[in-house]
Amino acid sequence: MRAMYRADGQTRMEADEARSSGRSFPPPVCSVHFFSAVVRPPRVPFLPMSKPRILTGDTPTSTGLHLGHFVGSLENRLRLQDEYDCYFLIANVHAFTTLADKPADIRANTIGIVKDWLAVGLDPDRSTFVLQSEVPAIAELTFLFAMLLPFNKVMRNPTLKTEIETKGLGDSYPFGFPMYAVGQCADILAFRPELVPVGEDQEAHIEMCRDVALKFNQMYCGVGNRVEPRDHVKSGGLFPIPAAKIGRVARLVGIDGKNKMSKSLGNAIFLYDDAKTVQKKINKITTGRQSPTEPGDPGNILMQYVDAFIGNHDAARAAEIKRRYAAGDNIGDGHVKAELGEAINAMLEPMRVRRAKMEEPGGESIVLDVIKRGLKKGNAVAEETLHLAKQAMKLDFGARMLG
Ligand code: TRP
Repeated sequence: MRAMYRADGQTRMEADEARSSGRSFPPPVCSVHFFSAVVRPPRVPFLPMSKPRILTGDTPTSTGLHLGHFVGSLENRLRLQDEYDCYFLIANVHAFTTLADKPADIRANTIGIVKDWLAVGLDPDRSTFVLQSEVPAIAELTFLFAMLLPFNKVMRNPTLKTEIETKGLGDSYPFGFPMYAVGQCADILAFRPELVPVGEDQEAHIEMCRDVALKFNQMYCGVGNRVEPRDHVKSGGLFPIPAAKIGRVARLVGIDGKNKMSKSLGNAIFLYDDAKTVQKKINKITTGRQSPTEPGDPGNILMQYVDAFIGNHDAARAAEIKRRYAAGDNIGDGHVKAELGEAINAMLEPMRVRRAKMEEPGGESIVLDVIKRGLKKGNAVAEETLHLAKQAMKLDFGARMLG
């Protein structure tokens, strides 16, 4: 008989047994109910899931996060911190897939990302910051999930392909590079989230992760092929099928006006840039427009930024600028740039204030402390998932104790 697996750790066989012996069924989802004398309760404590979960993260391949990260994902994280039980992952192991020879950089970038998060207002008292390299369950799930993804499908992942091109990896990238896409499925599913706030460039990864979750639930938890993704947990699946949540600006163009904003292309405005640097970078933008009376392209980079950074708090002003710009109604690029610089700096100012505390002597210890704090809860959740996944895969030879 196929053991159907429930999120609370009970198999169908156990449920049948419980029913026939007259005990109450079904038990509330996610509480601990073990009826069988054979199946011992896991030593991993079952964690209450009072709110739906979010997981998302950043890879410390650069010195810091930029405006593209902000409008693509950070804003959503900030907004959803109260509504969801949030897990924010620093994917420092993934950073080794392209920077294996630069461990000191990866370490410094890791600290930098946590500083960015704290500066932006992600709150370690409400959300859990998780350092990937200290969560062994993620590595274990990566290997198990690698069996559920056809190799060719991974290699066709458009996000990986783009990265190979933009980072000039050619054909000499390490085995671990494409493996990180499988790893990202484990990053996500280890926390069994419903939502993954990311920029548009990450959509292909989330799609792969959904495939893994669907396949796992079908293969190991007895969920039928025709069950809708949203009903998977209800039907006994371990993993909710997570959805990507794309930010208000799906793809922010860099100051070169051509490519997506990215550190490696040198076209980024960083959250840690000071006011002068921000204005200087904005001033470097070129549109090819010659005079304040020349009708401008309402879709050019300056106008995209007006939408993103003025329109977000003053829609009327953004509309006015765009109308005059398109009409060549005496509004110069220089003026727009000044107003834009001001708006972006006003947005970054509170972050600078929060960041200043961490830049004082001893500031790094604030960051290290936050990392340590997150690991306790992060590992508890990921260990629980691993335990449940192994149980579903008949790898239930006894729970282990870590830490
Ligand atoms: N690959 C993501 C990026 O480059 C970072 C990341 C790693 C991530 N693991 C994740 C994002 C899990 C969302 C969920 O931005």
